[in-house]
Amino acid sequence: MTGPKIGIVGAGGIAPSHIEGFQKAGAEVAAIANRSPGKAEALAARYTIPVVCGSLDEMLAKVQGLDAISIVTPNFTHAALAMQALRAGLHVFCEKPPALNAHETEAMCDTAQRAGKILMFNFNNRARPESQAIIDFIQKGGVGKINSAQTQWVRKAGIPGYGSWFTNRKLSGGGAMIDLLHMADLALYFMGYPNPDYVLARTFSNFQHDEEFRSSYGSEESSGVMDVETACHAMVTFRSGQCLTIRTSWAEMNERELASVVFQGAWAGGRIERAYSNGGKDETSIDTCKLFLLDNGKMIEKPLVFGPGPDDLGRRANAANFVQAVRGETRPLNTPAQALRLMKIIDAIYESAETRTAVQVDG
Ligand SMILES: NC(=O)c1ccc[n+]([C@@H]2O[C@H](COP(=O)([O-])OP(=O)(O)OC[C@H]3O[C@@H](n4cnc5c(N)ncnc54)[C@H](O)[C@@H]3O)[C@@H](O)[C@H]2O)c1
Repeated sequence: MTGPKIGIVGAGGIAPSHIEGFQKAGAEVAAIANRSPGKAEALAARYTIPVVCGSLDEMLAKVQGLDAISIVTPNFTHAALAMQALRAGLHVFCEKPPALNAHETEAMCDTAQRAGKILMFNFNNRARPESQAIIDFIQKGGVGKINSAQTQWVRKAGIPGYGSWFTNRKLSGGGAMIDLLHMADLALYFMGYPNPDYVLARTFSNFQHDEEFRSSYGSEESSGVMDVETACHAMVTFRSGQCLTIRTSWAEMNERELASVVFQGAWAGGRIERAYSNGGKDETSIDTCKLFLLDNGKMIEKPLVFGPGPDDLGRRANAANFVQAVRGETRPLNTPAQALRLMKIIDAIYESAETRTAVQVDG
């Protein structure tokens, strides 16, 4: 089956994974828009996309019969672009974070509901085969209620787009916490996305003005502003009795870049961990994926082994899931309600860090 017909808005570093995922799943990528058209023209030539525009307005006026758009622009643009497209009757696939905060995310969710259209976010780590194997095991009752989980995405010298929108709170919504929200989302997914109760958090800004700690990727446009946290540590409790700890950093004195979720359930536990080599091996490889089980009364470890996948495996698989969901072949891998709950937790993390109090969340 071919289709749906999709337009891409934003031609930055992460756009190719959207385009490749959509095209591989049989979608027609009919147009691409970017504020500065040169970047859009380059991607249009590389992926044979027929129409190049300077904005979503121009795309909606120029291209007939679009079914969906994919938003790959800076965080501060997500809410307005998504709501414009939803009101125009299109499904929306939007990069993470959903928006700058929960207030904007709620408006997006309401708009999607009123329009009766799919609003899905790029929580791409859920689409990786390891994550799908773990959630399958959990949903079949292999783990029981997950009592507790610990997540981390920590970098050593990884401030993206130093001085660009990434590091400007007004344009990004925050620093390491909102940018590296993937592992918190994955843990919540495993835990059944429970309703939060209290959040207690601290943020830190060491190395904020030391360019040695910038990463090699991110936006080229720079206003020079750097006013977001470089590290965040948080604890979330849930009304269900569960709890989650979250650690994220762009710049911290760590051994190496690590992304992981570890969880402890009523009768089993598990661990997914990706260790990055900072160059060299496949950056998206998961180095450890295992379950901790009781087998005939004995405690055992069961490794789940997957072959090496291409870079961007999860991103392409998530984009393909969106295509299949628009065709009505499957359900989206994430929902607006989950995105809103995650953003309420992130808002509470920033509030707790600022006020130095525990913040109660109505999730
Ligand atoms: N899922 C992931 O793993 C992942 C990884 C990196 C980035 N991201 C997210 O992707 C988004 C984009 O990040 P990036 O690194 O590609 O950023 P980028 O700054 O490299 O590119 C963004 C592009 O959007 C264009 N743009 C800005 N406003 C626009 C508008 N209103 N209409 C059309 N074009 C516009 C800019 O000119 C720029 O080319 C961000 O929300 C970021 O958080 C997600």
